[in-house]
Amino acid sequence: MTISITVTFTPSGSEDTSALILPLGKGQSIDLVTKDLSADSATAIKRAATAGRFDGTLASIVEIFTETENGARRIVIVGTGNGEDSESFEKAGGTAMAKLLTSGETMLTFDARSQGVDQAGSRMAFGALQRSWRLDSYRTKALPKTKPTVTDITVVASDEEASGWERFQAVYAGIALARELVTEPPNVIHPTGFVERCRPLADLGVTIETLDRAEMTKLGMGALLGVAQGSAQEPHMLIMRWDGTEGAQKKPVAFVGKGVTFDTGGISLKPGAGMEDMKFDMGGAAAVAGAMRALAGRKAKAHVVGICGLVENMPSSNAQRPSDIVTTMSGQTVEVLNTDAEGRLVLCDAMHWVQENYAPDVMVDLATLTGAMIIALGFEQAGCFSNDDGLASQLINAGAVSGDKLWRLPLGKAYDKLIDSSIADIKNVGPREAGSITAAQFLQRFVKDGVKWAHLDIAGTAWRKTASNLADKGATGYGVRLLDRFIADNYEG
Ligand code: BES
Ligand code: MN
Ligand code: ZN
Repeated sequence: MTISITVTFTPSGSEDTSALILPLGKGQSIDLVTKDLSADSATAIKRAATAGRFDGTLASIVEIFTETENGARRIVIVGTGNGEDSESFEKAGGTAMAKLLTSGETMLTFDARSQGVDQAGSRMAFGALQRSWRLDSYRTKALPKTKPTVTDITVVASDEEASGWERFQAVYAGIALARELVTEPPNVIHPTGFVERCRPLADLGVTIETLDRAEMTKLGMGALLGVAQGSAQEPHMLIMRWDGTEGAQKKPVAFVGKGVTFDTGGISLKPGAGMEDMKFDMGGAAAVAGAMRALAGRKAKAHVVGICGLVENMPSSNAQRPSDIVTTMSGQTVEVLNTDAEGRLVLCDAMHWVQENYAPDVMVDLATLTGAMIIALGFEQAGCFSNDDGLASQLINAGAVSGDKLWRLPLGKAYDKLIDSSIADIKNVGPREAGSITAAQFLQRFVKDGVKWAHLDIAGTAWRKTASNLADKGATGYGVRLLDRFIADNYEG
């Protein structure tokens, strides 16, 4: 159970008791937003703003209660900063939601008309929905005061803006799906549970197929199956295809996600402290599923195939050993020196499979692949590795516009050499240094000639230890907005 909030549009504001939320930029006069209020309310909120040193800084807030015929009404002004941030209206909406979600307010009204910015109100509502997301199904004893109260959002905006809402709603649904998959515990979202949660995408026109252990064995996916062999959970390859072009775009864009539903490290066991975090090791697969949900939900005019390699990495008497050699579907052999470097083993077979079966020109993989990525970029941006400058800049631009930011890191022969094995074709770990790059080099060995490929290491961005303006602590849904924007800007004309 996740909460669901209804969003509606109205062309002009009304005097009711819903919480009224008004955005204001840095340096803008407060008169811009108070001119439609009663004289008393306008005076009260101006005084509150001065007293609280409110200056429009992004995500700052001032609020008052005013009297209406039907009772008290909350008026909230939220700062949107000085326009340097592509997500400022989303973040302002999210800030208001964080403040009001459990406040007792049931209806929020967003009125951003004063800003004269395209879709500003919708963006606020989009941010508010993102910030409202939470998974409460396991709380059987939550105190009434901690329960969400907001049920409705009204956006004051033109009919034209209202007609554009569907797209935000679809992207939000994608983010919510990704967060749900990441947040649900690993005894529920094991590979089979993951597939079951994605099956409803078929109702939106997504074609769903899966490969089970026997089929993957027949195909020779020795690397993926080597990871899965220590687990009692059946591995799956999940294939989701959306074609909104009626066959016009012959070759789909391929998205490939790492879906390790729990990563203990295997025989190269991780330390106990913090191991619980490894339920989010399917964040790449969740982003792919969420992106498919968004694209199908808004009927994107593009042809996209999303592949999730789903396995659980466990130690057991049947688990693979450090120094095992596995043969990948591509025929290349891999010396598994560390069973905790499992993500690349899962991805290499998934990437090979999709290239064999769909011959994509463009392939983007997403994975919580390396701890080293967090050391390099922290929690703010994901790493982008690519064999093609054009693809890299398309992705980086989509990241900047959507808010799911990317930073490019290098690939190269000298790094590639570091994963040559002395007994097989490749070893699955390089030295400690440049750990994120050697992981990317490993993947590149499975990219066919002519395929434009990018690898996004989202180890630092799939999960947050602290709340942000757009997400409570926990799953972020990182990658959904990014992939949606990437498709919209480069494939939908
Ligand atoms: N899933 C982890 C990477 C990870 C670690 C993501 C921490 C998020 C937070 C991955 O499977 C892993 O264990 N990588 C190893 C690779 C190493 C053995 C070469 C790592 O990063 O330590
Ligand atoms: Mn691992
Ligand atoms: Zn992992």
